[in-house]
Amino acid sequence: MHAFGREPVAVTQAPGRVNLIGEHTDYNDGYVMPTPIPLMCSVAVGLGGREHEVVAAALGERWPCGVEAVVAGDAANAGVRAGSWASYVFGVMHEVQAVLAARGAGALPAVQLAIASDVPIGSGLSSSAALEVAVARALLEEEVWGGAAPALDPLEVAQLCQRAEHRFAGVPCGIMDQLASAAGVPGVASVIDCRTLQTRHVPLPDHRIARFLVIDSGVRHANASGEYAARRRSCEAAARELGVNELRDADAYMLEHARAALPPEVYRCALHVVNENPRVLMAAEAMRGGDMERLGGLMNLSHASLRDLYRVSCPEVDRLVEALQSTEGVKGARMTGAGFGGCVVALVPAGHENAALQAAARIIGLQVSALWLGSQ
Ligand code: GLA
Repeated sequence: MHAFGREPVAVTQAPGRVNLIGEHTDYNDGYVMPTPIPLMCSVAVGLGGREHEVVAAALGERWPCGVEAVVAGDAANAGVRAGSWASYVFGVMHEVQAVLAARGAGALPAVQLAIASDVPIGSGLSSSAALEVAVARALLEEEVWGGAAPALDPLEVAQLCQRAEHRFAGVPCGIMDQLASAAGVPGVASVIDCRTLQTRHVPLPDHRIARFLVIDSGVRHANASGEYAARRRSCEAAARELGVNELRDADAYMLEHARAALPPEVYRCALHVVNENPRVLMAAEAMRGGDMERLGGLMNLSHASLRDLYRVSCPEVDRLVEALQSTEGVKGARMTGAGFGGCVVALVPAGHENAALQAAARIIGLQVSALWLGSQ
């Protein structure tokens, strides 16, 4: 809290996540399988002053924000541009305030927030969800409300963060990232049914047998959120044509039947979704049963589908995935997250770590930043 010259009343954290399989399925009411990563966003919250104030030291930004603008959700008045980091923070401040006001708490007092994160931005590891959840947790601390705030459960926190992202950042995201950050358990994958929001926990492979390797391609493509919204619209168009509420309710047979009526890109997107959903359930079973061949094979199929049907990969990521897939011992590899650059995740048996890292280094150079995830 040096930024404000006073001690924080609380410090909170929230992790990024890597999605192991089940991509672009969450907003179709489908299945996903994320796990939290040991990279965090941290928020120190202080009290005092007449207005809110937010500092992101790493970005060199400091942003004062009127208490009234937050209550009203008036982002323009607060000088907040949709999609900027401030829009995520502003959105969460507004949503926390609104949820607690509806439950009889008073107004959110003026707060100072100091934000620091080691989740790389635009990497497909949910830096934005980590930011949202860490800010929400900070604003929900007892000390901020003088002990008078009703408690929210992790699902409610995730949902208010998702609303903030829709409304103020302008990204029509699903619920996966916020839920993975708010409720995820290290060493465990959450198999989330995005319709019922029920979660089953499946332990990651024992680290003595195999681990997931997460590597950042370093590539960031522009207009990822515009492309994301366009894919989502294609899915909605397919669901309408098929006469189902969400693509979760469609299958390959229904899709083939309707194919002639669908624009080609709408058909391709829908085909990805109807195939990716069962892959998540099969992957969960394979992981639970210790079948690494099958789990890796499903990851490879997921990548091919995202590359060829959903078309959210890019040549740099494809090269990295192919290099990993063709490394001896590696069971499978795929892009992870929304796409258009960012990270890949591979399933690497014990003893093959160096080979996998060398394969990655041959594609992206020696600056390989790697995370290894398994269970104890
Ligand atoms: C982003 C979104 C998620 C999800 C993924 C793709 O991370 O925030 O809701 O749709 O893309 O699986």
